[in-house]
Amino acid sequence: MNALVGGRIANLTRVQLEGMIGERRPVIVDIGAGDGKFAYRLAADRPDAFCIGIDANQDNLLKQSKRVRRKPTRGGKDNILYLVSRVQEITDELQSIADEVFVNLPWGELLHGIVVPKPELLSSIRRICMPGAPLRLSLYHQTAGAPTPLVLADLPELTPAYLDSVVMPGLEQSGFQVTDVCRVGSEEIRQIGTTWARKLAQNQLAEAVQIEATATRPLQRQTGDTPPSPSGKNLAGTHSASYTFKCSGHPNIRGTHHKTVEFTRDNEITGRATCVLGVAADFSLADLQNIVGNVTVEIAVGDSSETFHATVNPAYGDSERMIFRKSRLPTEQTFAVDLDKPASQFTRSFIRSLSDPDASIMVTVKQK
Ligand SMILES: C[S@@+](CC[C@H](N)C(=O)[O-])C[C@H]1O[C@@H](n2cnc3c(N)ncnc32)[C@H](O)[C@@H]1O
Repeated sequence: MNALVGGRIANLTRVQLEGMIGERRPVIVDIGAGDGKFAYRLAADRPDAFCIGIDANQDNLLKQSKRVRRKPTRGGKDNILYLVSRVQEITDELQSIADEVFVNLPWGELLHGIVVPKPELLSSIRRICMPGAPLRLSLYHQTAGAPTPLVLADLPELTPAYLDSVVMPGLEQSGFQVTDVCRVGSEEIRQIGTTWARKLAQNQLAEAVQIEATATRPLQRQTGDTPPSPSGKNLAGTHSASYTFKCSGHPNIRGTHHKTVEFTRDNEITGRATCVLGVAADFSLADLQNIVGNVTVEIAVGDSSETFHATVNPAYGDSERMIFRKSRLPTEQTFAVDLDKPASQFTRSFIRSLSDPDASIMVTVKQK
């Protein structure tokens, strides 16, 4: 991805981005960030958060991007990153990175893609969101008597009927659930707080439409599903609230990995598989793909059990391995990210019981 570092573009990998974000949460993404000041202010107000401002136009972002590189006493910040890209060109590199997304007063193809609507553009916004992430959109709307900005000239008017019959269904078909729509006047536009909001609010007749939506379950996947396993128990039908599968212990289970937990369908592992907590797992990819959002996972063996939490990666698609990661690296094998308890944090007595080759281990994944 094209990061704007000071005044120049540097290629940044997902792993490097993960390193920059570290433990900071939430990750807030501003799409069509313009001059980047809104993202900068978020980063300044919320030092625990990490902010990413994305804009197609490098020149717009230059000033703020140089500012964040200064010393902290002169406005420098290390919890913000600017990316130069059309949002449609961001593919998997930002997948599920965002806990919260803003699109403030877009124009050009960004506005068209939302208003017309264009599934490629909306799904690229959806891909950036974690399931459950709020999307806050504000769309400038021309009003009778007010001059029409050129960028809006050939767009349909955002009437309530058009919003209901075209814009909202477009968002919903791309994996968002709309939770609120309201029409606002110049004072509320000013309160959006961006540079364009201030400019537009100077016109007393200005109106905008604010839409709040939530990223819902992932779009239907095309990967080859495996048939449901006979022993995996899907407690609540297809859209399971809870799913249980079985696996076996193994003498090479060490449980010392500091970043991940894994269950594998393989019968054998070597001592290097330090994240594996169960082998010969009988989970089914099709059943796991029905689970979305935040999950609690319980591993039970004999009379003892331990639990952990994580957030499902919508891109999961591996029928052999089920990996939980502390980071947000959304590889195909990663079932869930934001893991709060890697293998090394399980009690050692519990890990010893998993290393018994006769142990029968039940794993229950509960959707919150
Ligand atoms: C009217 S400005 C709004 C900027 C800022 N959000 C604000 O409110 O001040 C719209 C921005 O959207 C950006 N933009 C347009 N199409 C885009 C796309 N496909 N992907 C990313 N940014 C885009 C433009 O470069 C421009 O900076």
